[in-house]
Amino acid sequence: MLSLGGLGLAVLASCRSNILKMSCSQLVVDRIDPLVNPGVLGSPHLHQLVGGNSLNATMDPADDRAELSTCTTCTFPDDFSNYWTAVMYFRARNGTYKRVKQTGAIFSETARGGGITVYYFPPRKDPTNIVAFKKGFRMRNGDPSARNATGASKYQGIDYTCLVRDDTRFTNHTASFPDHMCPVGILTTIYFPPCWDGVNLDSPDHYSHVSWPTEGDYDDGAPCPATHPVKIPQIVLEVQWDTREFNAPELWPDDGSQPFVWSFGDTTGYGHHGDYVFGWRGESLARAFSDDEGCLGQGNTLCTLNMQSIAQANQCMLEPSVEEDVDGWLERMPGGVEADL
Ligand SMILES: *[C@@H]1O[C@H](CO)[C@@H](O)[C@H](O)[C@H]1NC(C)=O
Ligand SMILES: *[C@@H]1O[C@H](CO)[C@@H](O)[C@H](O)[C@H]1NC(C)=O
Ligand SMILES: *[C@@H]1O[C@H](CO)[C@@H](O)[C@H](O)[C@H]1NC(C)=O
Ligand SMILES: *[C@@H]1O[C@H](CO)[C@@H](O)[C@H](O)[C@H]1NC(C)=O
Repeated sequence: MLSLGGLGLAVLASCRSNILKMSCSQLVVDRIDPLVNPGVLGSPHLHQLVGGNSLNATMDPADDRAELSTCTTCTFPDDFSNYWTAVMYFRARNGTYKRVKQTGAIFSETARGGGITVYYFPPRKDPTNIVAFKKGFRMRNGDPSARNATGASKYQGIDYTCLVRDDTRFTNHTASFPDHMCPVGILTTIYFPPCWDGVNLDSPDHYSHVSWPTEGDYDDGAPCPATHPVKIPQIVLEVQWDTREFNAPELWPDDGSQPFVWSFGDTTGYGHHGDYVFGWRGESLARAFSDDEGCLGQGNTLCTLNMQSIAQANQCMLEPSVEEDVDGWLERMPGGVEADL
């Protein structure tokens, strides 16, 4: 059986072996946002991005990422998709910011820069008729402007785990930043919507073309709503933030609040979001999800998808397109962003 790493509450009910799981090392930390600010060098906030090295600020949906890329940081070398999230900062008592380093999640410890662990899930019950993403497909989950549970309620699947150990998974969850110190760090998990309208590869908010089952759980075979009737694999991103160097009461704010802030200024955590641009080579993802290829049932090892080691994936990297200090003790976060307090 594969590790249960990252399976959230939704799938607690059973052990899963039918998942596609890969480690994606960090490709680059850069202030670009190809989905929300296409073509802009110096998007409003900083991201950490993984996947194919054809990533750039533009990313025309008509382009084939697999054709344009020469390597990927993911351990399935046919996956030239890009996945990205914001970056976490620590805000010191004197008001300066320091980037929180990432570590590879459990079993991906050697991934350069920590990166992202990426999963593709079929539903556990009735895992048939799952339609793989097509060229040009992209989506975003989460709303950077949300600052409370109500504001975030349009979105689902944004989750924080206060890591008591490396493999803490089914406890210590919150929808916002943990309000106390986490011994091993903070794991952030983004579940993407598993239902698609079957027509649009994108939408103005990068979200309206996808959706969630209205009743019940995708994993339990719940149907997709009539507006978004097509089941797609559920993509899940896990990022592990190494907060240990900041775990000291004298470093935390003396008003009892928590000191972490997203690169877009959010100190609540409700604004966390993640982005996806599809880029698998040809029909490789569709093949992986077909019954014959065995990828989903065999713990990846018998899968006919090509594999590369984390060490090989680590050799793929990009220089940031925006040159700026992202790692020092900064008066403001990149882009001039300050914590909204
Ligand atoms: C991004 O890559 C595409 C395809 O190679 C290229 O046409 C475009 O000019 C690049 N954009 C930037 C901002 O580098
Ligand atoms: C601000 O606080 C941090 C953490 O205590 C410290 O490392 C840094 O040097 C301080 N910066 C200034 C300008 O005092
Ligand atoms: C929650 O956030 C929304 C904006 O997303 C805001 O309009 C609303 O007033 C907030 N509610 C509370 C209770 O703070
Ligand atoms: C984790 O959850 C357990 C059970 O709810 C709780 O006792 C413990 O304090 C939590 N630990 C952390 C570090 O959040």
